[in-house]
Amino acid sequence: MHLLNYAASLLSIVSLTGFVAADLRIKADHFSFGGVNFPGLQELKPEQRDEAIQAVVKSGARVIRLFIGGFKIFPDPELEVGSFDQRLLDIYDNTLAAIHRISKGKLKVIIAPHDAHALRGTNEQPCDAYCKMIDGAFLDFYSNETIREYYKTRLQVFFKEYPSLNFEGRSWSSLNEVILGVDLQNEPWSGIWPIVAGEAWLCDIATHLKDTLELGQNNIAVITGGISGPQSPGGTQNFPDSAFDCKAVDVIGIHGFYALEEEQTAGTPWANMFVPGNTLTARALGKKLLLVEEMSYMNTRWGLGYKKAAIWDQGNALNYRGIPWLYSYLTHEDEGTTAKVSTTRADNFAIGALKNGLKRASTARSNFDWSGYLPAPSALSNLTHVPLNPFTPDQSFCTFGCPGYLCDAADGCRPDLICKNSVCTAPAETQPGIIGSECNSKATCQEHLRCEDGICQECAARPSIQPIDPVKGKGPFAQMTVAGDPESSCHLDTDNPFNMRPWCLKPQPFSAPDRRGNPCQSAAHCDANEYCDWGLCKACKDGDACLGAKCKGNNKCKTGFCNIHGRCDYPAKPKKISGSNVRNGGRKGPGWNAGPKGQASGPNKVRNEPMKVNIPKDKVQATGQPVAT
Ligand SMILES: *[C@@H]1O[C@H](CO)[C@@H](O)[C@H](O)[C@H]1NC(C)=O
Ligand SMILES: *[C@@H]1O[C@H](CO)[C@@H](O)[C@H](O)[C@H]1NC(C)=O
Repeated sequence: MHLLNYAASLLSIVSLTGFVAADLRIKADHFSFGGVNFPGLQELKPEQRDEAIQAVVKSGARVIRLFIGGFKIFPDPELEVGSFDQRLLDIYDNTLAAIHRISKGKLKVIIAPHDAHALRGTNEQPCDAYCKMIDGAFLDFYSNETIREYYKTRLQVFFKEYPSLNFEGRSWSSLNEVILGVDLQNEPWSGIWPIVAGEAWLCDIATHLKDTLELGQNNIAVITGGISGPQSPGGTQNFPDSAFDCKAVDVIGIHGFYALEEEQTAGTPWANMFVPGNTLTARALGKKLLLVEEMSYMNTRWGLGYKKAAIWDQGNALNYRGIPWLYSYLTHEDEGTTAKVSTTRADNFAIGALKNGLKRASTARSNFDWSGYLPAPSALSNLTHVPLNPFTPDQSFCTFGCPGYLCDAADGCRPDLICKNSVCTAPAETQPGIIGSECNSKATCQEHLRCEDGICQECAARPSIQPIDPVKGKGPFAQMTVAGDPESSCHLDTDNPFNMRPWCLKPQPFSAPDRRGNPCQSAAHCDANEYCDWGLCKACKDGDACLGAKCKGNNKCKTGFCNIHGRCDYPAKPKKISGSNVRNGGRKGPGWNAGPKGQASGPNKVRNEPMKVNIPKDKVQATGQPVAT
């Protein structure tokens, strides 16, 4: 009999969760992918190497990046500048062959043919023959023409002259069945930005690879390799004009190492970097492909307990933005307290979180077309909501909707925050209609807030229905049903557990014709795919001169201004968080802990993906049937 009641309430939940289209979600039919860096793979004993490759294949990775250089056992194949040991190249060739054989052609390789760190003997790279030649004059590698010719010869030996031991004597530049792309170098000019000398090297080497060594005609991508080293949030290190302007560059490789912080997840900088249509992505679209070639866990004062969550958050942000990524890096040894992820560990270690992200990457959508380099997956996900991080530790200072968390609508964030460009953000003082703002018939509140007594009121996020038996009914990682747990259901609007404040209003479907929109004074107050129209944010439609649209100086971009690259750009600069409406007390803003005990784990999102309902086990046996919505 209770089943009937549950069925009834299920129905109402279903109608309650009417489609709320995710803002800024990628709808294009192109695919993204994930992969890994695996320096030193070629040095493993064949048996171990093959085991490691098997682990990579199983992980859902589609790309593996290898480095040519000196590692622990073997020296760099260019023993002295201009003289090569073919047997050392055979070791790499054997590795390519093993990858191709074990993955049945599914895993492709990116080769970094040299590492700029070897020029200085840093980053565990021994000082190599070029390092000895330049003798500390690092920039000579790029600006000295003689040395540049030597480097071109190195590339020519690797990709043209070396006859493959395993691929019938073919040259590597023709092995497009196993090689996806080749870096100019790993992190050219690493640590130096802006580039002060030898910038012409970049296009010279790219053209050499693409045209002279014929990577281009064999459909093997020329990749920049992380110019100037790690990308800073908001900076342009990895994508200087010289890379965009060079015809021979196919892929801009981006390296970034971001940590979990008080006000951001490790994935937040990635979500901010790749807002669809922003300066970077609009400029690249149709011209260059963007690849996060290295991203990594960074240890913080919170410790290794957050490693899995931080890895997953980064993959998730990049999957949501449709930018492919490679984790840096895998090892077959112990990972200790490093960012390394060991292939030998069980799935309850970091490798499990990485695999989870890689699997999701393998069906993620992208605005960029990679089909020239990788076959399309059989199906693409129809991601309608930002998935929740299943690896958030129980003891985490935040489990849902905190500043920096990914969101697709207001109910993905704590009620005192706004969901802006897919990130939960503390509103600036100037943001109209936030909690505490004055409101009236003309000055409206944010859509999730009510205007009462002339003030936009605090509200409480709709809590989860807790399982009767919290131990049996719990999700795999949490004691209680965590906020936004897709395994659980949220309370109906008509439910009325004791509550100081009303529940927040449900956000209107993004595409609903009667959607009112959040209040604004300028496009900077709206999402990047909206514009400000008579005080309210309106969704851009196809053909509107919105973010990323081509423009000329005299055109009016609805979202802001026409940038120097001829694209409508987003006017907002990262905002300083300040003002009376920001609770400096930190994470637990209004509504955060509202509701009766046991339902206090936080707000639950109105979801439209299949939801499971926790049914008391003494009444009904079966549970966990997805509910169609
Ligand atoms: C370039 O490097 C070579 C090799 O170290 C050196 O002999 C030559 O003098 C350098 N050329 C210039 C212009 O510095
Ligand atoms: C996504 O939606 C399309 C069109 O509705 C459908 O054909 C496809 O099977 C869906 N993909 C998945 C993975 O559900």
